[in-house]
Amino acid sequence: MNQLIRLLIIALAFVSCQEKSSKSDYIEQRVEEILSKMSLQEKVGQTSLRGTSSRVKGDLSEDLKNAVRNGEIGAFLNVMNPKYVDELQRIAVEESPNGIPLIFARDIIHGYKTIFPIPLGMAASWNAEVAETSARVSAIEAAESGIRWTFSPMLDIARDARWGRIAESPGEDPYLASVLATAFIKGYQGDSLNSENSMIACAKHFLAYGAAEGGRDYNTTIVNEELLRNVYLPPFKAAFDAGAQTVMSSFNDINGVPASGNKFILKKILRDEYNFDGFVVSDWNSVTEMIPHGYAKDDKHAAERAITAGLDMEMTSTSYEDYLLALMDEGKVTEEQLNDFVRNILRVKFRMGLFENPYREKVDASRWYAQSHLEAAKEAAVKSTVLLKNNKTLPLNKNQRIALIGPLADAPVDQLGTWTFDGDGNYSVTPKQAFAENKYKFVFAEGLKYSRDKSSAGFKKAIAAAEKSDVIVFIGGEEAILSGEAHSRADISLPGAQEQLIDALHKTGKPLVLVIMAGRPIALGNIMDKVDAIVMAWHPGTMAGPALYDILNGKAQPEGRLPVTWPKQGAQCPIYYNHPNTGRPASADSFVGINDIPVGAWQSSLGNNSHYLDLGFEPQFPFGYGLNYGEIEYEKTIVSSGKLRRNETIQVSCTLHNKGNYPITETVQLYIQDVVGDIVRPVKELKGFKKIRIAKGESVSAEFTISTKDLEYVDSSMNYVVEDGDFNVWIAPNSAEGIKASFELIE
Ligand code: BGC
Repeated sequence: MNQLIRLLIIALAFVSCQEKSSKSDYIEQRVEEILSKMSLQEKVGQTSLRGTSSRVKGDLSEDLKNAVRNGEIGAFLNVMNPKYVDELQRIAVEESPNGIPLIFARDIIHGYKTIFPIPLGMAASWNAEVAETSARVSAIEAAESGIRWTFSPMLDIARDARWGRIAESPGEDPYLASVLATAFIKGYQGDSLNSENSMIACAKHFLAYGAAEGGRDYNTTIVNEELLRNVYLPPFKAAFDAGAQTVMSSFNDINGVPASGNKFILKKILRDEYNFDGFVVSDWNSVTEMIPHGYAKDDKHAAERAITAGLDMEMTSTSYEDYLLALMDEGKVTEEQLNDFVRNILRVKFRMGLFENPYREKVDASRWYAQSHLEAAKEAAVKSTVLLKNNKTLPLNKNQRIALIGPLADAPVDQLGTWTFDGDGNYSVTPKQAFAENKYKFVFAEGLKYSRDKSSAGFKKAIAAAEKSDVIVFIGGEEAILSGEAHSRADISLPGAQEQLIDALHKTGKPLVLVIMAGRPIALGNIMDKVDAIVMAWHPGTMAGPALYDILNGKAQPEGRLPVTWPKQGAQCPIYYNHPNTGRPASADSFVGINDIPVGAWQSSLGNNSHYLDLGFEPQFPFGYGLNYGEIEYEKTIVSSGKLRRNETIQVSCTLHNKGNYPITETVQLYIQDVVGDIVRPVKELKGFKKIRIAKGESVSAEFTISTKDLEYVDSSMNYVVEDGDFNVWIAPNSAEGIKASFELIE
């Protein structure tokens, strides 16, 4: 690079740095200015997030307006009438003592009006661009309603398919979750926080909520600090690095201390280590829920615990509003603590540009369900779909007569999934509609009215339809309400009489394609051998129909890969690929199944190790798994050198051949194992992935660069370390395959 250009780049970087720091100096000054004029009452007001139920649409009460007029509220959740948003904001800006604008929040989790696949589905795309676009579209659509704060992304690592909220999670892997976290934050917050159509994001739920015991929602979590730091924290760190402005404390207790009163996570990690300068909001009533937890004796004590822990804003419960000043009088909390909360909140309001432009974005024509948004939702649904099994049944061809069967083949609301208060089923395109629009020869018979339906009344018609067809496409799974918050299941197989119907359809002898729409992996043991192909569509959203139509007919290639290990049964959970080894690792060589144990066998382990006698040790499908239409062959993994010196890098590569009949975009995955560590290390960890397009008949080399940073982890002294020694490495199509190579890290 020529010297002049280099100097110019340095000068520009300097100017932009100066601009940023003078902007933040300006914001800090304004914050102090306002703070110095605020009454104590008003300061407490800023810490209050007033919730209204998503279903209440009644008139604004005078009491509520007066509360805003007096500066008693800092933000609102779920004000769904834009007229009310305008009116409340006008009162705050024009009539409250210091004219501090409100923030309006809503759970916009995977789309506002245009609904994208559920977050677990988005994670299955392994595609940051798709995730970012979904968040951008959400922000653009929500801006019309004045919503500038979303309680998303959910970044809870989830290793248990029984947990209903696995549907909202980015899956089980910290690396994939971190990539997605960055993408979601960029999408929601846009290029500039003070644009009228950017929403501030909220990284939630801080922390380890996904580790709820037994997958039962809200349950206690016991997670040692190494695990917190190596597994549960990285996606949050990525979100903060990407500029997330808010974070939500979770419902669960972590090692005995509820998150909303947990100084260790809210102060030590968040503020001292991560230097987070946005604000922390509680979850819905999670401050006063510390009472049933047994961590606070009453509301006042709960407020004291949360304030002392450093929680800035209370969602829906009113313990700060009711007791903060009394606690101050009693010397239990200080005005400086309150000032810090207000500073954090005002700083974000300034960054959002609310003081200059507090009002809702006015648009000439509504952008809800805009054509480009629907196309983006369709693309996301296509890219999230995972092909799990295929006995050469897919793709379909248009000459085949199809029997379209199942409770989710034409379920416009259920295909949207959990957390879709605003998505309108009338805009959904169902698979049945998509087949009809494409003038496909098909007969439709739902067979079951909804996923839990136990009645066999519709079987006869469904079987008759199957008998008249060449291929059966059964679209079943779970209704939207069976996953999401507080919707955990112990038995994660297909609910209702779906398995019986599949059995009856199988008996017709026709090829049978199972398409699953669900918020979690589904136990398939009873039907695995009765179906010829399995497609996991998650809850795909508004454009489920066109997306599935394209996938089933080979107009689009399945690119999705599992973001979670798929268990054989709920009883196998928690199950995850990146587990540590035991001293007696399970292996196929020594496994003796329950039916192979001789009657009266002598009391011994029979060579069995860490597994279930009746379920083995392998999952149904491994993390990272997904088939293509066609065949990709991986050669062995090659390392450029058997030794890696600190501060240097090595290249790892693998040649891939496309032996099938289609061009394919392959998700090539890089896994590493640290063989011996200060603490036991996972058997494998994802450290990178790439989407590589491979034309039919072509061979390409996939390459990754490994640096010592990729080998870092938190040891038993809570230090980030990279230890000398042996490492294994795989370039692979999923976490269970690939040919291992090795290298040694030396000084
Ligand atoms: C959920 C949060 C959500 C909040 C507000 C809670 O029940 O746990 O994820 O953001 O409600 O609706």
